[in-house]
Amino acid sequence: MTSQAAPRIIVALDFPDSVPAEGLLEHLDPNRCRVKIGKELFTRAGPALVRRAVAAGFGVFLDLKFHDIPNTVAGACDAAADLGVWMVNVHAQGGPAMLEAAQARLAQRRERPLLIAVTVLTSLSAADLAAIGCPGEPAARVLGLAGLAKAAGLDGVVCSPREAAALRARFGPAFRLVTPGVRPVGAAAADQKRIMTPADAIAAGADYLVVGRPITEAPDPAAALAAIAREIAD
Ligand code: C5P
Repeated sequence: MTSQAAPRIIVALDFPDSVPAEGLLEHLDPNRCRVKIGKELFTRAGPALVRRAVAAGFGVFLDLKFHDIPNTVAGACDAAADLGVWMVNVHAQGGPAMLEAAQARLAQRRERPLLIAVTVLTSLSAADLAAIGCPGEPAARVLGLAGLAKAAGLDGVVCSPREAAALRARFGPAFRLVTPGVRPVGAAAADQKRIMTPADAIAAGADYLVVGRPITEAPDPAAALAAIAREIAD
């Protein structure tokens, strides 16, 4: 478990393999950020890279978005916990039994990672949701799925910074909100469409900010990280 004093910036290691990822880790201070390892990097570099990042002192968010039958997801979360990660996630759309199974399995451990849920992928529009048989506004579905996560005892959700204020108001101060789509003033939005600045995302209620390219593609990643940390400290 973590405290608010611990780093709130999670650097997304969106690299194709371990070489550039480990190169960046050498330039980052584990006391100043956490890191996120997602599907592409994990599929290439595997548990060995996760273990090395943990051994180097980084809090690792293993972003594999598990979504399967309850027993399988519970086992996958347990395996993630064995790697020593700080946070792991599942899809809330896996349903209450899957969420409860994952939570119950992790609760058996003496030390467990934070377990958070993905609600509606921000890449899905209302039309996309209708196409998969879920008509309605994405924002309403986000609140509904976050409610399922909360009821199952999960620690929080990944959400757009635009959703943070409504989620914070509905689910209270202890529910962790992890927000990607964050861009410091002047940084390129790239493919992100609904961005917020780090300070605005924190003001809206985010606990942790996932930031990728503004740090990973900066000429001096440590300086870019420090600038964002200063902005949210202010
Ligand atoms: O480079 P950038 O800051 O856009 O990276 C954001 C990270 O957050 C990426 O790893 C991306 O996959 C992830 N993410 C996101 N939007 C979501 C969920 C995850 O950008 N809704």
